[in-house]
Amino acid sequence: MSDFVRIVEVGPRDGLQNEKQAVATADKIALIDRLSATGLRTIEATSFVSPRWVPQLADAAEVYAGIQRRPGIAYPVLVPNEQGYDRARAVGVQEVAVFTAASEAFNRTNTNAGIDESLARFEPILRRAAADGVRVRGYVSTVLGCPYQGEVPLADVVRVARALHQMGCYEISLGDTIGVGTPRKARAMLQAVAAEIPMSALAVHFHDTYGQAIANIATCLEEGVRVVDSAVSGAGGCPYAKGASGNVASEDVVYLLQGLGLECGVDLPSLAETGRWLAGLLGRATASRVGQALAAT
Ligand code: HMG
Ligand code: MG
Repeated sequence: MSDFVRIVEVGPRDGLQNEKQAVATADKIALIDRLSATGLRTIEATSFVSPRWVPQLADAAEVYAGIQRRPGIAYPVLVPNEQGYDRARAVGVQEVAVFTAASEAFNRTNTNAGIDESLARFEPILRRAAADGVRVRGYVSTVLGCPYQGEVPLADVVRVARALHQMGCYEISLGDTIGVGTPRKARAMLQAVAAEIPMSALAVHFHDTYGQAIANIATCLEEGVRVVDSAVSGAGGCPYAKGASGNVASEDVVYLLQGLGLECGVDLPSLAETGRWLAGLLGRATASRVGQALAAT
């Protein structure tokens, strides 16, 4: 099993999509450029969704065009449909992420479409992406619980993950969108999906609503997952998942990995500095416990 864990930094997208106050385009660009200097290999830059649905990221094209893209770093963006794909390609995006859910009710609220309808929307994107040499990541939300439906059967998570993988997504990110999972459930979910899809094609995406994210990640690392989504400063939430708090903080994940002797190539002091800078921009303290601790020492 590899000792390298790739962190997919989702703060500029999953974090900023949920901020009530407007963040200036120049600050979004500065955030991504700072993150690019920390050693991260993947930074989800923004989202080409409908600006009516997520006005916070209406400036996706300006942000993407404004960042300094460094060699060796991937800057994927979210696209919900072909219109999003067109907008992303118009500014030269090389990697996109499509997203659906294991819960029908959540997916309707999030994308105004049922699960199968959303999968059908992705097919032309995957076809075009293959022809364009664009990589496509797939997200499955609500893998450990849904704000509308409650429990989500594992079979539904497996079905949707398999569909995305078969369609050609190189990696499937399993999202505990509302952060209700605990380690035993997280392990069972990951094992069920990994029985059908190679572990090397799986990522975990935890929100920290109930403070379980780090415990869940540690458990999933034991199971062999080697890609972890997180957001600097613990920013974020989901506009269509009431009460969901931010993503697990990237600083906390890096600290965990260092303690476990796993490499991720990220400079923790520089990441923590960026986390505090972002928190300052948003007018609050960093949600990262490691960020707080490092600031106090
Ligand atoms: P709809 O209203 O059904 O779409 O929304 P539509 O096709 O009927 O179009 C309505 C209007 O939106 C039209 O404009 C379109 O042009 C426009 P009008 O003619 O009325 O002026 N439109 C767009 N504009 C720009 N870019 C586009 C686009 N598409 C349509 N791509 C739609 C359907 C999917 C578009 C909408 O529901 C949407 O954008 N949803 C996105 C919601 C979202 O971003 N949620 C958060 C991301 S998911 C997440 O956070 C979970 C994750 O982190 C993992 C986890 O934690 O579990 C990934
Ligand atoms: Mg999320």
